[in-house]
Amino acid sequence: MKQIKILLTGAAFAADLHADAYSRMRDKAKIVAIADKAADRIEKLANTYGFTDFKAFDDYKKAIMETDCDVVDICLPNFLHHDAAVTALSQGRDVICEKPLATTVEDAYDIINTAEKYGRRVYYAEDWLGSPALRKAREIIDSGAIGDLTFVRARECHCGSHSPFAQKIKYCGGGCMVHLGVHPVGFMLALKNNKWKELVALTSGGGENNLIHRGMEGEDWAGALMRFEDGTTAVLEANYVTSGGMEDVIDFYGTKGCLHTDLTFSSALKGFSIPGFDYTVEKAEVTTGWANPAVDEKYNLGYVSEIGHFLDCIANQKDADVGLRGIDGYETLKVINLIYKSAREGIKIINNGLEAK
Ligand SMILES: NC(=O)c1ccc[n+]([C@@H]2O[C@H](COP(=O)([O-])OP(=O)(O)OC[C@H]3O[C@@H](n4cnc5c(N)ncnc54)[C@H](O)[C@@H]3O)[C@@H](O)[C@H]2O)c1
Repeated sequence: MKQIKILLTGAAFAADLHADAYSRMRDKAKIVAIADKAADRIEKLANTYGFTDFKAFDDYKKAIMETDCDVVDICLPNFLHHDAAVTALSQGRDVICEKPLATTVEDAYDIINTAEKYGRRVYYAEDWLGSPALRKAREIIDSGAIGDLTFVRARECHCGSHSPFAQKIKYCGGGCMVHLGVHPVGFMLALKNNKWKELVALTSGGGENNLIHRGMEGEDWAGALMRFEDGTTAVLEANYVTSGGMEDVIDFYGTKGCLHTDLTFSSALKGFSIPGFDYTVEKAEVTTGWANPAVDEKYNLGYVSEIGHFLDCIANQKDADVGLRGIDGYETLKVINLIYKSAREGIKIINNGLEAK
């Protein structure tokens, strides 16, 4: 298999997650360029993963125009996804894009249309779909071991985003629902092939109305109830009011059993430290006392499998699985914006373009 040539745009947190995955697949992937405004981030990333022989750029646009690559991997702040994706696609490159696909539904639609226009593909990086535990859970559900799936409860929560762009809606598209809820919503839509029927939602409202983060424009708590075409129901939640580390918890209930997954606290390691561990789990404020230090957190959260799947798809010029295509990023963002609409207007949304009180 030929090595896929990658231009990595952004060299911060998400780029580190992708770089870790690429570094495990050196036979399949070659980082040919990295773009970030901050040169020290590029250097740190390259040193961490031993990338050599790549070109460094201080601007993603210049990098896209000047790099000979197969795919542009977008790990930039949300408000740059649209411009970076459209620029890359119109240069004839495939695109891997971090969540959310864009900050507005219109921009997300434009991205998938541009891909179609230039005959390229968009790969939407929803890591939950690569998570080994969730892949196994889906296998078990498909085997019939818990009977017919009737109800799913899923959440991603932590204490707040590290990114300055997360504070303003124009830079990110919303609050915790677009940042974190994008995972449970995207996962559930993938599970049901985007076939949903109705939803109703509440959020903390943003700003002064927030539970804790009053300086943030977007909401810091959001919950949605969804019903799918086959009758399965789901409670999907996101919040920034959770201390102690990131919670990624998904419960599945069937007519003959249930399954419980905990992606961040289910480590095989448990320990107690007075000075503190170097690291325990993502977003843990402290590492002292009792903790479950993660064992290969990036693998367990799904980034390795997600990136591996994209590399195989790019090599074979095929679409990604359901949930990981550009269209799924668009559908997810559409639902998230309907969640906001439901909460804002106090209405139930029916998925036929009509709304019911
Ligand atoms: N899937 C996940 O679990 C996950 C986790 C974290 C972040 N993300 C997503 O990844 C994306 C990046 O988030 P982040 O937290 O890594 O970082 P971030 O949003 O803080 O910024 C990313 C990097 O982009 C760089 N940048 C800004 N403008 C640039 C320009 N014009 N040219 C080149 N570089 C520029 C910044 O210097 C920064 O290093 C976001 O869309 C976020 O939603 C996904």
